[in-house]
Amino acid sequence: MSDALIEAARAARGRAYAPYSRFHVGAALEAADGAVFAGCNVESASYGGTICAERTALVTAVAAGHRAFRRLALTSDAEEPVAPCGLCRQLLAEFGLDLEIVSVGARGAQATWRLDALLPHAFTRSQLGEIP
Ligand code: THU
Repeated sequence: MSDALIEAARAARGRAYAPYSRFHVGAALEAADGAVFAGCNVESASYGGTICAERTALVTAVAAGHRAFRRLALTSDAEEPVAPCGLCRQLLAEFGLDLEIVSVGARGAQATWRLDALLPHAFTRSQLGEIP
């Protein structure tokens, strides 16, 4: 639990806005140059407008000019480590399927995956062919 990226995810979880599910999630994304971008889930009274912690971190990083990432740390209220949802997997895939994802459960259990293992047969830009 000494990893700074995991600590950044834990701090972000503390900032989660989750009045509907009361399920708090924090994420921290490490860019190729070492910069770290944190995110938390932000819920909406119109439930479909909710954004997950992973996508909050990702869009924050992209808006700051980053497009290459090494690792994503994730933590939540669940006892066991949670893996990113399907929507988050797909958006993360946009920036590389070799992303390492480290998830820590509330009791400290840790799981690690590469994004390509979580999103096999991913739909990517290569399927779109030549874009005029
Ligand atoms: N959530 C995340 O932020 N990341 C995940 O990986 C799973 C789900 C959020 C969305 C919603 O605010 C709450 O957790 C319950 O689904």
